[in-house]
Amino acid sequence: MAVCMVCLLAMTSCYGGGTFGVNDPTTREQAVTILWRYAGEPENAATADISDMSSISNWAQAAVRWAEDNDILAGMLENNRFDSKANIKRGEVASMLYHYLSSNTSGQPEPAAGGKILVAYFSATNTTRPLAEYAADILSADLYEIVPEDPYTDADLAYYTNGRADREQNDASARPAISGIVENMADYDVIFLGYPIWHGQAPRIISTFLESYDLTGKTIIPFCTSHSSGIGSSDTSLHSLASGANWLAGRRFAGGTTRSAMEDWISGLDLPEPEAVVDAVTSATSKAGFNFETKSVTLNSGYEMPINGLGTYSLHGETCVNAVKSALASGVRLIDTATAYGNEEEVGQAVREAMEELGLQREDIFVITKIYPGSEMANPEQSIQACLDRLDLGYVDMMLLHHPDRNDVKAYQAMEKFVENGKIRSLGLSNWYVKELEEFLPQVPITPALVQNEIHPL
Ligand SMILES: Cc1cc2nc3c(=O)[nH]c(=O)nc-3n(C[C@H](O)[C@H](O)[C@H](O)COP(=O)(O)O)c2cc1C
Repeated sequence: MAVCMVCLLAMTSCYGGGTFGVNDPTTREQAVTILWRYAGEPENAATADISDMSSISNWAQAAVRWAEDNDILAGMLENNRFDSKANIKRGEVASMLYHYLSSNTSGQPEPAAGGKILVAYFSATNTTRPLAEYAADILSADLYEIVPEDPYTDADLAYYTNGRADREQNDASARPAISGIVENMADYDVIFLGYPIWHGQAPRIISTFLESYDLTGKTIIPFCTSHSSGIGSSDTSLHSLASGANWLAGRRFAGGTTRSAMEDWISGLDLPEPEAVVDAVTSATSKAGFNFETKSVTLNSGYEMPINGLGTYSLHGETCVNAVKSALASGVRLIDTATAYGNEEEVGQAVREAMEELGLQREDIFVITKIYPGSEMANPEQSIQACLDRLDLGYVDMMLLHHPDRNDVKAYQAMEKFVENGKIRSLGLSNWYVKELEEFLPQVPITPALVQNEIHPL
């Protein structure tokens, strides 16, 4: 997904919430193993071109073979030595992630979809209900109970008595009426459909539900509970009732299944991305272009952003000025700060001095800052102007909202005004994930040029 690529490339300049873990001792074999597990423990080559393979811990061997086979260790092997017990460096983590994401290696899990999901369920005796509630909660989805117009009594449900439920299951044309409808069905891309197994099949009221809507193009994922039967053909038998839908394989759960078991199942599903995110990412990336010769990316705003940068979190005073100037002298052209870092003045000073001393133009250097939730986003014009004043660089190349906040749309709209008057060149977000993006993007006219999120194996 292109947005991850942007995040990764922004990563060397990103401390997000300030927890990159730079000082945590993690060995190289541990880091590779974490990444391999994240990738779903994919198949690995039988051998690896690594001279000190025998010194690698047994539990890490498969991961290292996989990483070497997929060029994920590019630049990390000296004379083919992996040096498994040495601590991994921050740059090596970035390099490993970069090669992993570029390698297209199998098993990289798709993120679960974050919006426009409906969990619809029928539950006659409340066994399926909690599972549906877990699913809705996990997915931040809407929950809809399929309620029979004529409720089932205990006698109706007594099976093998030729009671009402038995008779309905024996009659393929039975369509018990449902009380109420899903008014906004068109809004949903994904439907989780929960039901109890009745004589090996879904209750006929599920047929009523499926035939009540045009479900063409939607992804439907059945799940069921039963006393002991498996899901059997109960899910596939439903396909013809919504033949235009994209049906995923269903799953049976026992009564009393835990939330975490539901979570495991859901996280392994191959769900489509929510449309709003897909549209925004497509629109942003169709205008953006990476150039690995110049190590820059053309943003959807038309401006070029270097893809390597220095993050200045926790740098203050002279240390900050020296670090920024030294980075600029070494060829780094992107400097990332934030009001929360409390060092915009030092960053501004360092950039001005470096321009003077190194003969750089303002346009040669890309400066990012961020405004923070709470009072800053509540008074965005004032906060943005304060950033500009503290940096004192004429304009900022990019301003981000540091985290989601109740005033984030208002703050973004204020930043859009500063784009109009040329004081900010590009806009972006930080610490926004799929769910937050899905809510946020439809509310703003300028698609963010960057989503700066933390991404690392730790
Ligand atoms: C009419 C009827 C038929 C059933 N048939 C089966 C069955 O074939 N296999 C099975 O394991 N459980 C069967 N059950 C048990 C239910 O599938 C099980 O109790 C389910 O978890 C109930 O879910 P609910 O409480 O959400 O309605 C049947 C229950 C009823 C009422």
